[in-house]
Amino acid sequence: MTLLNNLSRRFDDVEDLCEIESETLRKISARGSCRNFTNEKIDISLIKTLCAVALSSPTKSDLQQRDIIIIENQVTRQRINDQFPSNDWIHATPSLLIFCANNRRQRQISQWRGKKFNNDHLDAFFNASIDSGIALSAFVIAAEAIGLGCCPISAIRNYSQAISDILKLPDYVFPIAALALGWPEQPAEINLRIPLESTVHTDQFSESNIQKNIESYDMRRRNVQPYETQKHRTLFGTDENYGWIEDKARQYAVPQREDFGDYIKSRGFKLE
Ligand SMILES: Cc1cc2nc3c(=O)[nH]c(=O)nc-3n(C[C@H](O)[C@H](O)[C@H](O)COP(=O)(O)O)c2cc1C
Repeated sequence: MTLLNNLSRRFDDVEDLCEIESETLRKISARGSCRNFTNEKIDISLIKTLCAVALSSPTKSDLQQRDIIIIENQVTRQRINDQFPSNDWIHATPSLLIFCANNRRQRQISQWRGKKFNNDHLDAFFNASIDSGIALSAFVIAAEAIGLGCCPISAIRNYSQAISDILKLPDYVFPIAALALGWPEQPAEINLRIPLESTVHTDQFSESNIQKNIESYDMRRRNVQPYETQKHRTLFGTDENYGWIEDKARQYAVPQREDFGDYIKSRGFKLE
């Protein structure tokens, strides 16, 4: 499969794109999350090397406000697994990493040099979160490049305080996501994405054709990748035209992580 083959499967509207001969881009364009792994353990030196590659990614103002915690200890792993009693695939994941935002180091540095940290507002939380997300993404790309499978798990934020206690996270350090890592049981599936007309803009933001584009994406996706389960069926019933739109509308019709702001404040951040 060429790069354009992969992209046209994912996006449909690829008329403005061009073919590029690159194994790296071809792999990224065909990537997909993996939740089904072989039992094979991953060598710790391989995981640490991937961490180093991930931490080579860009970082805001060279601040390097992200850390990765590799879970090796089986007791710690079990305590984390216990937070997800019904997620068998997480329990079966050979390796688990926790990506953390770390705004603590910056505050330590300020203290070491006798400077007041005079940016104690939402930006501190935002910058560390973005930095950590960039490292997460870089790790996924690096791991998938050598044939490993991954899946980020933001569901750990449903248990932010418990995870923080287990990992002994100090103030100004918080988990943004876990990452399941292992050798894939089967090849990744290419998940379809929203048409590029609605997500790549030129010169100014545009919502032209927004509903038409999303509805046609929904239809295309239903044909190629129908959902196996419907969210919150007891609340919303069964929808025979269930697709991406209904799935996302249902997902956010039910409150989740309402205590997240309080948790972040409890780590010391000001969110104003
Ligand atoms: C920040 C982030 C958090 C995620 N959290 C979860 C999660 O908690 N559980 C899960 O099964 N998948 C999770 N995923 C995986 C997404 O569901 C997946 O990337 C998305 O469905 C698109 O599929 P693809 O990666 O195969 O293209 C997460 C992905 C990201 C980037």
